[in-house]
Amino acid sequence: MSAVNEKKVAALEAVKYIKDGMVVGLGTGSTAFFMIEAIGEMVRNGLKIKAVATSDETEKLAKKLGISVITLAEAKRLDVTIDGADEVDGQFQLIKGGGGALLREKIVAHNSDFNIIIADSSKQVSRLGKFKLPIETIPFSTQLIIKELEEMNLHPVQRMLGADDYKTDENNDIVDIDIWKTDIKLTDLEHQLKSIPGIVETGLFLTSTDLVIIGKGAQAIIEKK
Ligand code: A5P
Repeated sequence: MSAVNEKKVAALEAVKYIKDGMVVGLGTGSTAFFMIEAIGEMVRNGLKIKAVATSDETEKLAKKLGISVITLAEAKRLDVTIDGADEVDGQFQLIKGGGGALLREKIVAHNSDFNIIIADSSKQVSRLGKFKLPIETIPFSTQLIIKELEEMNLHPVQRMLGADDYKTDENNDIVDIDIWKTDIKLTDLEHQLKSIPGIVETGLFLTSTDLVIIGKGAQAIIEKK
């Protein structure tokens, strides 16, 4: 079965956790797309929920499908968030941000009582880092941060969109770094990166995930923490 079908299998399993009255966090990306589509259908069939979107793209799609979108401030707290990932390891640690939405995704995950990650089987890894780790930086500081990351041997590359710098929903830059060869522990690396002024967030999600649903062929494999 293709990765696309596996994404859909995982997404359809995840939406079973959504119940009437919940405030739901909606992730971003091609896997989250199937989850949002399914929730749209459930809403048309009478499900009553409110949603918080993790990106402008997700907000647009959700509204188009008739899902009621509220701000994080209005929500105060979320019951459940469903989101994709670029890599998931056996300890429920993730790399996210391939689609550039890591900052809002991390904020929403932090404010959510229960976080479900959905992914096709290619995203499961024994060790994080083959996927380049996205870092969100304030444009004022990006070039100097790149120099600092080069000195740390993290091979930073600023993300581009054609000839222009890629910009996030918050109008920040993304720098993708290579953590595969570093021997720094992930928790220490996260701490070191976050202590550089101008780095707003990293795509390392080390502790937020409660449940992982992997589409493997036609089956949804559910892994609980
Ligand atoms: C968005 O910035 C990301 O964190 C996505 O959740 C991640 O890149 C997974 O995306 P896909 O589901 O499109 O692979």
